[in-house]
Amino acid sequence: MTEIALKLCSQKKPIPADDQLGFGVHFTDHMLVMDYDLKKGWHDMRIEPYGPISIDPSMMVLHYGQAVFEGMKAFRAADGNINIFRPRDHFQRFNNSAVRVCIPELDIEELLDGLKKLLEIDHQWVPSTHGTALYIRPFIFATDQFLGVRPSHTYKLMIILSPVGAYYAEGFNPVKIMVEDKYVRAVRGGIGAIKTPGNYAASLLAAVEAKEKGFTQVLWLDAHELKWLEEVGTMNIMLKLGDEVITPPLTGSILPGITRDSTLKLLKQWQIPVAEKQISIDEVMAAGRGGKLVEMFGTGTAAVISPVGSIHYRDESVVINNGAVGELSQRLFDAITAIQYGDKEDSFGWIETVKL
Ligand SMILES: Cc1ncc(COP(=O)(O)O)c(C=O)c1O
Repeated sequence: MTEIALKLCSQKKPIPADDQLGFGVHFTDHMLVMDYDLKKGWHDMRIEPYGPISIDPSMMVLHYGQAVFEGMKAFRAADGNINIFRPRDHFQRFNNSAVRVCIPELDIEELLDGLKKLLEIDHQWVPSTHGTALYIRPFIFATDQFLGVRPSHTYKLMIILSPVGAYYAEGFNPVKIMVEDKYVRAVRGGIGAIKTPGNYAASLLAAVEAKEKGFTQVLWLDAHELKWLEEVGTMNIMLKLGDEVITPPLTGSILPGITRDSTLKLLKQWQIPVAEKQISIDEVMAAGRGGKLVEMFGTGTAAVISPVGSIHYRDESVVINNGAVGELSQRLFDAITAIQYGDKEDSFGWIETVKL
């Protein structure tokens, strides 16, 4: 069993009501912390009261962005226990991200022990209304006090928890997407396949400009030819063309989404034809015009499934499924959330339960 030092808070904060949660604005009473240095490696796992940390102005992460993070969710099951969705897969991706930016890897089972302990301590913060969840944010950042580009010799890992509201409190809301053909998010061989802050900084201006034009999000194209679909906002993208579901392959510039993987596994279980293959924006627009683009949706931890109601490319818009939620989008959303809340059998072994 992993050794975890506990220092609990003396005064607990009020827990917001389930209908007042929003996303990423409330934080629980405690956080998990761990340090790395060259001598001891990763050490000193501890749970402390949630609170500010002191930062030296020369701390390397502020200058060179050497950091990684994850985003996963825990759900209140009907029996009162807490279901964490695919935590080992999220921690494996955390490690994959770390390696790409020269951050030392962590022991996944130790991390999971720490997370489960943190959830036990802050269990009252896991909301119970259907659609709500506890968002889990692990992150690591470079802490050397040093100016100069090289990997840091010291790091801090933290896990913070945030109760989040129902993403679709008023039902699915199909989004209006603008195809981005000026800015790119990531290049092959770069850092697009990992969760590191730079990717999100790179995406901001495009998202702001798209919003100014009345769109919800951008559809990213590949950086070499501005031709092939990559992702939508901070989600993976899937299309139903005729009878087949298509999603771009993981070629190095796309984040390997856990929800993408869950979706692919469900589609295969349901024997729906599915292909991971490149698809060009011209093909998508032609299919839209010809009525072959049956559905389009994003997949990601925050929304699970996010139906796309229309796409706009250059001077043309195509409406998908009359702007309504597609049958497959709804079926996938229902199936994944049923497993998350423990309402349906978890035949894939995706749930890690914290028994209270
Ligand atoms: C850029 C990007 N793509 C895709 C995803 C979806 O990944 P997941 O399904 O693991 O949440 C995310 C969210 O984590 C993301 O930030």
